[in-house]
Amino acid sequence: MESQLPPLITPDLAMALLEWQAELGATEAIGDGPINRYELPQEPRKAAAAPTADGPAGAIDPRTNPAATPQPAPMRAQPGPDAVAKAKQAAAAAQDLAQLRAALDGFNECALKRGARSLVFADGVPGAPVMIIGEAPGREEDRAGLPFVGPAGQLLDRMLAAIDLSRQPGPGQSPVYITNVLPWRPPQNRDPNPNEIAMMVPFLQRHIELAAPKLLVVMGNISAQAMLGQTGITRLRGTWASAMGLPCLPMFHPAYLLRQPAAKRQAWADLLALKAQLTNAP
Ligand code: URA
Repeated sequence: MESQLPPLITPDLAMALLEWQAELGATEAIGDGPINRYELPQEPRKAAAAPTADGPAGAIDPRTNPAATPQPAPMRAQPGPDAVAKAKQAAAAAQDLAQLRAALDGFNECALKRGARSLVFADGVPGAPVMIIGEAPGREEDRAGLPFVGPAGQLLDRMLAAIDLSRQPGPGQSPVYITNVLPWRPPQNRDPNPNEIAMMVPFLQRHIELAAPKLLVVMGNISAQAMLGQTGITRLRGTWASAMGLPCLPMFHPAYLLRQPAAKRQAWADLLALKAQLTNAP
C-alpha cells in the first residue's frame, strides 16, 4: 500500500528549517505542531462545553482544535500611557534586589518580554563599588539568563581583568556588578525604542539604589541615553558625568569594540580613568 505520509524531511533539512526559523527571530515553539492559520475557518468560537474527564468546562483540546492553541497571557503591543507610571510604582515597592527581580518578572507592559526566553537581571556582586550598565541581552544572554556572556561579554571580562576587576573576583581582583537597561532581548537584537527604554528606566534607577555602587559605567548609546539623557557615545566617552548623584563614566560598548578594534585604544584610556577613580576614591 502506498504511504499516506508526507515526503520525509531529512535531518539536514529539518536542521536547516530550524535555523531559518531562529534567523527569523523564532525563540520558542508555542504549539505541538505547525498551524496554517490561512486555512482556519473564520467561525466565531463555540459556546463552552460541559466539563469532561479531559478538562474543565469550556476547555478545548488544542490537539483536535488547533485554533484553540493556548495563547500566552495578554501583553500590550504598544505601551499604554500609564506604563511608565506602573513601572515606577512596581520598582519603588521593591525593597531588595530579589523583590526588584520579581517586580520585573511580573511587569507585563513591555512587549519585549513576550519574545524573550529569559529575564536577564544581573550578574556579579551586588554592593560592588562599580556597577556596569549595558544595553540589552543578546541571543546568548537570553539563553543563559545572564548579562554579557556572549562575545561582547567575553571581551568585557577581559577589559575588566586588565584593571583587576571581575564579576567573579579572584585574589587581587575587585568585584563588579553588571546589568542592562533592558532585561529582555529585543527581537533580532534591534535597538530598543524610546518607549521601551522609558518603561525600564524606573527599574534601572531602583536597581542602582538597591545595589548601591560607588560609581557607574554606562556602555554604549542606549545606556548613556537611559542614565544621562544623552547620546553620542563617541563624544561622551571618557568624560566623567554624574547620574543619580554618582560619578558615571560613559564608554564604548564592547560589541562596538569587536567591530572597530581601533577604538580599543580609547577604551583602554577609559579603563585607566576608571581604575584611577577607584584608587583615588575607593
Ligand atoms: N550587550 C549588552 O549590552 N548587554 C548584554 O548583556 C550583552 C550584550
